[in-house]
Amino acid sequence: MAQPKYTTHHGMVDILPEEVRKWQFLENLIREEAEKFNFEEIRTPIMEQTELIVRGLGQMTDIVSKEIFTFSRGDDNYVLRPELTAPVVRAFVEHRLDQRGGSQKLYYIGPMFRAERPQKGRQRQFHQFGVEIMGSSDAVADVEVIAFMIHICNKLGITNTTLKLNSIGDPESREVYKQALKAHLKPDYDKLSDVSKKRYEKNPLRILDSKEEEDRPFIETAPVITNYLSEKSVSHYNKVKDYLGDLGISFTEDPYLVRGMDYYTETAFELISPDLGAQDALAGGGRYDLLVEEIGGLPTPAVGFAAGMERLFIACEELGIELGDGKKVDVYIVTLGDAARKWGLAQLSKFRDKGISATMDYMGRSMKAQMKDANRENARFAIIVGDNELNEGKFTFRDMKESKEEALSFEEIMEIIQM
Ligand code: HAM
Repeated sequence: MAQPKYTTHHGMVDILPEEVRKWQFLENLIREEAEKFNFEEIRTPIMEQTELIVRGLGQMTDIVSKEIFTFSRGDDNYVLRPELTAPVVRAFVEHRLDQRGGSQKLYYIGPMFRAERPQKGRQRQFHQFGVEIMGSSDAVADVEVIAFMIHICNKLGITNTTLKLNSIGDPESREVYKQALKAHLKPDYDKLSDVSKKRYEKNPLRILDSKEEEDRPFIETAPVITNYLSEKSVSHYNKVKDYLGDLGISFTEDPYLVRGMDYYTETAFELISPDLGAQDALAGGGRYDLLVEEIGGLPTPAVGFAAGMERLFIACEELGIELGDGKKVDVYIVTLGDAARKWGLAQLSKFRDKGISATMDYMGRSMKAQMKDANRENARFAIIVGDNELNEGKFTFRDMKESKEEALSFEEIMEIIQM
């Protein structure tokens, strides 16, 4: 066949019916487990104001400077959301969710957009689920967020992960650290990669995240941020580690872990999987105690994470974990002749009303082809009906699993199926 004329954009994929099952399985799991943790779902628009994302994530971040899809219409500037923390904060401020009282525990599931170079585990449209707890500065909130992230992975059977943990402190500690980092890098400035040279003045912390080989030696010997934290930040970080220990959640401290957005303060973490290849982060998050105020709300501490759903599927596949059942239907009505087709069509709704899934042939195929189709559809039972069966009020009822047939009335069939 010739190449199709229209295809999806680079890095954007169709989720076909066979794959939708595992998506539904994961989405249902997230919703069920989120309820147990007392998170409430929030849904925000796919498009936001560009200004929100630029302000929220930071002008100098890779996402804002290279990866956002933007366009304008009239005087409005639109961006396809690259993540949901800033939009959720926008909604929190816009709708004064703080007035609901207590801390707000929100979760979300949905598509995000980043114009990155597509590769395994990296798409331009991808899906995240995540949570945000807003209004608590307590380390308990950090740990609940991390616990939920790990809980979902455990439920899926992904248990070979590493939780990387760091504290990037408050802005004052970070400023002191930035100076120390720059002083360390200065003598070797000329040997740094071009990207790191650019980051040196504007966002030196991001140099720690560099993937360029030439930067390695200077990163490996760099001062560590945890030695520059204020007393308050150290105390918060110690509590997080202490509570994680109490829950039996193991972690590896990585003082060079800096996240990709500027809004982070204090706790930063990533969940790494050995099954993902180069894009090894299943999930990531941290505190962002200043973002709500930055966006125009009252000072509100907050913490959250987001996980990449496509990456969870890759990890499951590598680990041989199958998610969701295969295709199946309870009843397939095999019809021969017009009267039978009419009868079959009318019976479908009777099954469906009783919560039984039912289908029939729509293509006027032979009995043999219909039986083959019933097999392909993984039907539990088939009802075979032609003129004779209609006249006698007895239908051939086939148990597809047991390969057994008997002639029964419609009422008898219904009774068996409902058992
Ligand atoms: P993030 O680290 O940018 O954090 O993204 C979270 C996760 O989304 C990543 O660990 C990865 O699994 C997945 N992901 C990111 N980009 C792609 C991509 N191009 N293709 C496939 N998967 C991808 C955030 O988005 C923050 N909003 C997390 C957060 C919530 N922080 C606080 N609250």
